[in-house]
Amino acid sequence: MIRCISCGAEYGLDEIIYTCPKCGSILEVVPLRPDVSKDVFECRKSTMWKYKEFMPVDESKIVSLEEGGTPFCKCQKLGDELGVELYVKVEGSNPTGSFKDRGMSVGITKAMELGVDTVGCASTGNTSASLAAYATRAGKRCIVLLPSGKVALGKLAQAMFHGAEVISIKGNFDEALEAITALALQGKLYLLNSINPFRLEGQKSIGFEIVDDLGWKSPDRIILPVGNAGNISAIWKGVKEFYEAGFINDLPMMTGIQAEGAAPIANAVRAGKNEIVPVENPETIATAIRIGAPVSSVKALRAIYDSDGLAETVTDDEILSAQKLLARTEGIGVEPASAASIAGLKKLVETGSIDKGEQIVCVVTGHLLKDPNTAIDACVKPVEVDADINALLSIITGK
Ligand code: F0G
Repeated sequence: MIRCISCGAEYGLDEIIYTCPKCGSILEVVPLRPDVSKDVFECRKSTMWKYKEFMPVDESKIVSLEEGGTPFCKCQKLGDELGVELYVKVEGSNPTGSFKDRGMSVGITKAMELGVDTVGCASTGNTSASLAAYATRAGKRCIVLLPSGKVALGKLAQAMFHGAEVISIKGNFDEALEAITALALQGKLYLLNSINPFRLEGQKSIGFEIVDDLGWKSPDRIILPVGNAGNISAIWKGVKEFYEAGFINDLPMMTGIQAEGAAPIANAVRAGKNEIVPVENPETIATAIRIGAPVSSVKALRAIYDSDGLAETVTDDEILSAQKLLARTEGIGVEPASAASIAGLKKLVETGSIDKGEQIVCVVTGHLLKDPNTAIDACVKPVEVDADINALLSIITGK
């Protein structure tokens, strides 16, 4: 069943609806609560479909690029520097380089079940890259709306190269999402933004994997960047499902980080509110999370409050330094939005909001190569010399 998160009205899994027809609120998939022991996962391949019993789709229709099963790296040096036990879940290792592939695998599988021909999304980049790839794999027409001039180069290249029909919108992500939702409501396409509750069903597998990676334990805290607010809601749903199944005994504090210029959720948490005030003109170098009116804000706020978590903002400078810090301390290359989780961790440790010694998992959501321009701009240009031993010696010895 699909259920409205506000009025509780229930709908069938095959109804094509994105908000509650009764009250207009957003929807969630009711947990399946399969009767399985966690031992069944043991011998399976390390993809998100390892947990297939918890996924609300027909197994025979699965469209997959073997997403999930991403690296879970202990970051000893950075953790020691910050005084915490730090792990990083590297979502850039997914097939198209971001966590979106998890949601898209379930979303496109649902599109196969429903038999729709055309799928679409608005995107700050990664969702479009992922949808383009999965739609192709499923043989579906794919339409993506992107905010003009605000999508990182790698993501744009992916969406175009996988053959999506890319339309540049003169406006921001929030406006593009409103436009594509209107098209979806007219039945012109199946909407695969995270307002579609099946997307979050895939993304909840990040929560499954984190507790599995830790040997069936919850970390003290999970920290991640928040844009449209789907992922934080999904990971919380995942850990709760495994908690309710008896696979873990504790739950993590969900901690969302937003860019200072696009922080409606952090603002709401600061004010102790259950609703956001949209940010009119969101702005940040982390274009992936340049969002002013997150559709899953109510779910995200519940995740943060119910888990006794936190929300924090970070500046663009803090994001860029954290991106470099992670790359140069631990060898993990992530795009700016993903580095917001590390920047947020650093800030929350410095302000004393996070206790020393906490066990923390930062979810780094997308690969460094998604945004090569920002990476190159942050570095000193290489020197150019002849392939001559003396010229090289003088450079590397500094003499
Ligand atoms: N990190 C990256 C790399 C993202 O691409 C996104 C969202 C987020 C974090 C935030 O996740 O929206 O679930 O809170 N990108 C979307 C897109 C909006 O269109 O690719 P969220």
